Amino acid sequence: MVRVALITGVTGQDGSFLAELLLGKGYEVHGTIRRSSVDFRERIAHLEGQPHFHLHYADMSDSMSLLQVIGLIRPQEIYNLAAQSHVQVSFDAPEFTANVDATGVLRILEAVRLCGLTHSCRIYQASTSELYGKVEQIPQNEDTPFHPYSPYAVAKLYGHWIVREYREAYGMFCCAGILFNHESERRGETFVTRKITLAAARIRQGKQKKLYLGNLSSYRDWGYAKDYVECMWLMLQNIKPEDYVIATGKQHTVREFCRLAFHYVGIELEFVGEGVDEKGVDRRSGEIVVEVSPDFYRPTDVVNLLGDPSKACRELGWNPEKTSFEELVRIMVEADMVKVTAEQVGEHVRTNLTEYLEKGIVK
Ligand code: NAP
Ligand code: GDD
Repeated sequence: MVRVALITGVTGQDGSFLAELLLGKGYEVHGTIRRSSVDFRERIAHLEGQPHFHLHYADMSDSMSLLQVIGLIRPQEIYNLAAQSHVQVSFDAPEFTANVDATGVLRILEAVRLCGLTHSCRIYQASTSELYGKVEQIPQNEDTPFHPYSPYAVAKLYGHWIVREYREAYGMFCCAGILFNHESERRGETFVTRKITLAAARIRQGKQKKLYLGNLSSYRDWGYAKDYVECMWLMLQNIKPEDYVIATGKQHTVREFCRLAFHYVGIELEFVGEGVDEKGVDRRSGEIVVEVSPDFYRPTDVVNLLGDPSKACRELGWNPEKTSFEELVRIMVEADMVKVTAEQVGEHVRTNLTEYLEKGIVK
């Protein structure tokens, strides 16, 4: 029997990796997309046209569209990844964020019930380490109290609890992965890691002068997205529906990420000064390449995330050391060096860094 899965948010970073994983396992994969005046399906372009990959228009704020797609495909597994996922944006669009990230989860659960799939469909909900917010314990595990610290986190807390409620009230197999930050070469360009790797590549190739960042002292537990989507699948293959923390158990500051990314493009940074006056200086040229801009400060910021993934290691066989922090930064920097070079020579990204180095395009 071919298993049928629905991924909401298939065009996102995680959705695209998860679609690849499930197709590789022989699933019939359906994904939801939104209408846009421009085509933003870059991350899944390579999957379109495959016989077991299907796309449907649906929006998390539109119950009817969700009911229609769930009723039509009657999935055995739903991965609810769709969300307004940017924390800073949630301060500017709090109502939209609540509608999509909180009520949207309820819409999925109710659609499953209304389609008569209460006991046949398993649901994964994308919860987040942002739930710990103004952290009350370090490291954070499944028993750590939540203290959400942004409109995004408050909305995600509703999503987290409504999933637990439906599990208990209706015996549904629904569970939440409390995932700590995970990044990749497909990460959105306004999240701090990608913003840094892209800027490092551009600065190295003379396409950008400076990078402006917010809080450099914020700690994150950063892992590789491709490793994390595997846990989503494992959670739905479990005997019982349970929630898990997925993290590496190691933390680094934004400053450290920045220093390493620039190191990989051949620029050694020295940070001088403090707070808004802190600067990242290129040791060789003496030029200031990183500056702090209060524009990227948040009204409330989560500054100390460190996950304890022991339960996932024990029960799901999760290996938090599969891709190290150094390897993650290297993968992202290398991909962005190729992207920036390809833009420069007017090519589609279809080659690798070694080829550009050999041709003398990147020096
Ligand atoms: P992402 O790259 O921002 O992708 C978000 C996806 O949600 C996109 O496909 C987006 O579609 C879709 N979406 C947004 N609003 C929607 C709406 N109203 N209706 C339908 N679809 C909508 O996020 P990600 O990094 O892959 O994260 C996936 C999920 O995990 C999110 O729920 C996020 O909050 C959560 N999470 C992420 C991390 C992390 O570090 N990456 C950690 C913990 C939890 P468009 O392409 O059309 O915008
Ligand atoms: N985006 C951004 N841009 N963040 C910056 C910047 C900047 O210029 N400068 C410093 N930061 C700091 C932020 O203040 C925050 O403390 C940290 O870098 C990480 O910010 P993001 O990369 O935007 O990620 P996030 O941690 O807020 O949210 C991501 O991870 C969550 C899991 O903890 C998103 O993927 C969420 O969807 C996810 O739930």
